[in-house]
Amino acid sequence: MKFFIDTANLEQIKEAQALGILDGVTTNPSLMAKEGITGKENILNHYKAICEIVDGDVSAEVIATDYEGMIKEGLELANLHPQIVVKVPMIKDGLKAIKYFTDNDIKTNCTLVFSVGQALMAAKAGATYVSPFIGRLDDVSTDGLNLIEEIRLVYDNYGFQTQILAASVRHTMHIVDCAKVGSDVMTGPLSAILGLLKHPLTDIGLAQFLADYQKGNK
Ligand code: E4P
Repeated sequence: MKFFIDTANLEQIKEAQALGILDGVTTNPSLMAKEGITGKENILNHYKAICEIVDGDVSAEVIATDYEGMIKEGLELANLHPQIVVKVPMIKDGLKAIKYFTDNDIKTNCTLVFSVGQALMAAKAGATYVSPFIGRLDDVSTDGLNLIEEIRLVYDNYGFQTQILAASVRHTMHIVDCAKVGSDVMTGPLSAILGLLKHPLTDIGLAQFLADYQKGNK
């Protein structure tokens, strides 16, 4: 399973990259705003800065919601850097835009997906990634992980190449569960990724090893 970090914070992206396990980055307009990145030029420069830190795909979201606007913005984003993936919302014009980008060899991430039907449409349009938001489904007492399982089944039934990118991952157990059900990618916060490293028995065992070493090597 690929690991993407879901942030526009350059320090956190650097920290995740330094771990050696990072495969890419996802951002959205809310995450950019959280970092205080505003204005078109600053936003485009920030995407370039992210691409310079990581080796993999970097999702950059269009703001337009009409077909022509999404094509214009998406082409501009794609031309910024070869690692840019154009992130497009799951709406009717978004679907058409994904088809356009697919036909023009531009990678896409279909975002704001909450149902199998939407994921099926994204795959039919040739999206590189589909982003089901599992945390936001959990927030409204609907099983987000179950959606990943259902999309996996449908995609495998027909051999769709669209990669399932579990988004809105909120904690470490989400990551483990996504891996169990065969999500191709997960995107989550640094805290959830670092949580995978933790086990009290590791800490206790290491402390004991070091104490025993010190006893024998005074
Ligand atoms: C995915 O690409 C989205 O940017 C993100 O995962 C949404 O997460 P949230 O529901 O925690 O805002």
